[in-house]
Amino acid sequence: MANVQLTGLTTIIVLGASGDLAKKKTYPALFGLYRNGFLPEGTRIIGYARSNLSLKEFHNRLLEYAKLPTDPIKEQFTEFLKICTYISGQYDKDEDYKRLNKAIEEVESAVNSGNKNRVFYMALPPSVFIPVGHGIKKNLYSNKGVNRLIVEKPFGMDLESSRELGKALAPLWREDETYRIDHYLGKEMVKNLLIIRFANVFFGAIWNRQSIANVQITFKEKIGTEGRGGYFDEFGIIRDVMQNHLLQILSIVAMERPISLKAEDVRDEKVRVLRCIPPVEQKDIILGQYIKSEDDTKPGYLDDKTVPPGSNCPTYAAATLWINNERWEGVPFILKCGKALNEQKTEIRVQFQHVPGNVFKNAPRNELVIRVQPNEAVYMKMTNKLPGLSMDTVISELDLTYQRRFSDLKIPDAYEALILDVLKGDHSNFVRDDELDAAWKIFTPILHKIDNEKIKPDPYAYGSRGPAKIDEFVASYGFKRPSETYNWPGRQ
Ligand code: BG6
Repeated sequence: MANVQLTGLTTIIVLGASGDLAKKKTYPALFGLYRNGFLPEGTRIIGYARSNLSLKEFHNRLLEYAKLPTDPIKEQFTEFLKICTYISGQYDKDEDYKRLNKAIEEVESAVNSGNKNRVFYMALPPSVFIPVGHGIKKNLYSNKGVNRLIVEKPFGMDLESSRELGKALAPLWREDETYRIDHYLGKEMVKNLLIIRFANVFFGAIWNRQSIANVQITFKEKIGTEGRGGYFDEFGIIRDVMQNHLLQILSIVAMERPISLKAEDVRDEKVRVLRCIPPVEQKDIILGQYIKSEDDTKPGYLDDKTVPPGSNCPTYAAATLWINNERWEGVPFILKCGKALNEQKTEIRVQFQHVPGNVFKNAPRNELVIRVQPNEAVYMKMTNKLPGLSMDTVISELDLTYQRRFSDLKIPDAYEALILDVLKGDHSNFVRDDELDAAWKIFTPILHKIDNEKIKPDPYAYGSRGPAKIDEFVASYGFKRPSETYNWPGRQ
């Protein structure tokens, strides 16, 4: 029953419903879908978690994070809460799952005929993925409709643990029933990449090593690990952001054109390009960890009480990946990510080669920038004649800033888009098992080296641009900064 639109009655079961992820992402996204009429008719949502909460307490938790700017939206939220119930229970007890099953059956008894589908959303820590995978398969699997399982990262700590997890879940849940979320794949500009690349003839022609000098994919956050230092410390920034979100973006930037837009055709091409990337080497990586801000107002990573003293965990990493294929050999793909930096931004920056034999001296390189967030935009830096009587040049922009161009359209939240894909049975924007394997192969050797050799990250101040050597690192792969005088008044 893969890739089919759900018909009949659908119950969504959110496991880990009292946790942070459910409160901040899953339920707000479900509300967004409800409000816009995208949940199938009659859908009910049952939350399940260990916390012993009354329905009222549970609803109050959901309210905390709901964005309800107007009265009509507040009313819609009140209506939405009527389809959201809550049951508490353990993750390893059959009798608790049986109670949950009873509650689902009660919902399902409202209709006599048609499919009775169940969508399970695991908003859970990885330590319980396997018992919950077992528990729901054994006690909750619907024989009267379609079952779908949504899983959230982290999918293991390295290649081996990811394979173990896969091995434990594979006999229970078929690949076509499994939806591994990487929420970056639900972001509007990440989805736009396929269209930018494959629906524009001019990009198609220059998207290769002959024209492109280097690609940078950058993720910056202003806040540190405040509040989740303990969790973060087990993983570090490479496992938290680079191995998944940034590598997923890279795979779409670099893949060949898929045969069609069908999920497996798209995912086949992503896997193919990932398999051309050798493991990251130590010479191609720099690591950082933030210390307190220069003005002393923000704490360093190690000041967080939940972080083990003396931890070497990187909160910043830059790594250069190489793709050994005909299109990309020799082109550095520089991935950079960090917390507690000077700005919040995710962008893809494609820098083109210099113009060969250019008669205009010092003309800078063209760049295409796709700003994923905030303030979505696509802009191209090009050289133009400085208006006037001379033949002087100036860098200017071809600018597609969404707020200006699509001012009356709302950009959906990534989780909303992805949950809707699950309901539609569309796997295109989810991570396939072999894709995950290929991603771990690229990072596992360097992660083991960092862990085993306790490699010390370079310090950088909270609120700075990252470790001091970052500019030198990026320049060493041939990235040329535009001149210091470059200034774009419209830049956000
Ligand atoms: C999560 C990481 O996957 O992505 C977080 O675990 C990070 O550390 C978050 O903050 C970033 O997501 P977004 O959508 O806010 O850019």
